[in-house]
Amino acid sequence: MDDRDPPRLSTLLGQLESGTTARDDDNGDRPALVLAWGVQDATSRRVFLTRASALSLAIPGLGAALAACSDGANGGRVDSARATSEGPAAGAAPEPPQGIHNSDSRLDSAVVKGEHHVGTSATGSATQGAASAQFHRYAPELPPLATGTQRLHWHARETPIRIDATTVVAAWTFEGDVPGPIVHTRVGDTVEFTLTNDADIPHSMDFHAAQIDPKTAFRSVAKGQSVSFTFKPKWAGAFMYHCGTAPVLMHIGSGMYGAIIVSPREPLPTAKEFVIVQSEFYLSDAANGVRAFDYQKMLTTLPDFVSFNGRPDQYIKEPIHVKLGDRVRFWLVNAGPTHPCNFHVVGEQFDTVYLGAPPATAMRGVQTWDVPPGGGMCFELLCDVAGEFPFVNHGFGHGQKGAIGILIVDG
Ligand code: CU
Ligand code: CU
Repeated sequence: MDDRDPPRLSTLLGQLESGTTARDDDNGDRPALVLAWGVQDATSRRVFLTRASALSLAIPGLGAALAACSDGANGGRVDSARATSEGPAAGAAPEPPQGIHNSDSRLDSAVVKGEHHVGTSATGSATQGAASAQFHRYAPELPPLATGTQRLHWHARETPIRIDATTVVAAWTFEGDVPGPIVHTRVGDTVEFTLTNDADIPHSMDFHAAQIDPKTAFRSVAKGQSVSFTFKPKWAGAFMYHCGTAPVLMHIGSGMYGAIIVSPREPLPTAKEFVIVQSEFYLSDAANGVRAFDYQKMLTTLPDFVSFNGRPDQYIKEPIHVKLGDRVRFWLVNAGPTHPCNFHVVGEQFDTVYLGAPPATAMRGVQTWDVPPGGGMCFELLCDVAGEFPFVNHGFGHGQKGAIGILIVDG
């Protein structure tokens, strides 16, 4: 089997029936990545179906047959191919897989349909019009604080996005961009959020700034459907948001992430404030002028690009400008999906790095600090020297792949 092929259904089913899983073999990060198996030792058909259903969440393309199989067990449709070999599991309703946050499994397992884009993001709408996709610099400025209740109604959309002069990617997005819009709110203020899914594939929203039952609020919705929830951030900081539909790696890896910045109620010192979202791009070769996000490549954890705000090197080409004497505050979110961001400004030192919620737990005089995937932190520096200061992921294998920019301090 070619490395880039998804695992065969028959192989995976064989593993399940024999009681072994992909975690037991030498490529342990494959199918079970986002899952916690509910039961380890049972061999009944019911448990088999539960496991198979759970497994389908992790493997694009595998879902349809297994979901249909589950339907059969529930007295609904029966997948003909499975029915001939296994037969419908009469009277054996599969339990929902345990340990999965987001999950109407039937929706999740519909992740990718059709042969042309199995295991990649290359859906019809994600590729349509790729040739005419225009580059735009992602504005890094923190938007003004929206005090009081903030109502957001976003759409999950698939669309081609130009990330540099030669590369257009088939993206899954919030509001048509990667990253999605920057949200700026304040501790204790209300965010009323609605996501409507315009895409063929189910999607969802997971705000790390919310404390809320994820099973309900972060559930997946099918095309044309919406999910709404309300939350009040309890802590200040830079928080990630992302689609949590399984396999989460595929949905984050295909562009569905962004930053929500929660300011403390007592304002921080006046500063020029910027938002940086680091993320990795794992791309297939170009086809019809567009490069798809590639699930198998995501599993290799060797990205083609690592970017700040969705475009490699964009702030090298068009730097960020501030003035001598400014305090600069970077709200940094690391969307991953896999690697840390070791944030450093060449020729400068961070006056303050807030280890937790600002203004508490301030560390002074820091050269480099790492933000884990799924994490966010607040970095401040005093621009008391004029010049051009590269801000980088000091893990230079990734800085070199695009996680780098320039801060120009105009004298
Ligand atoms: Cu999604
Ligand atoms: Cu998360």
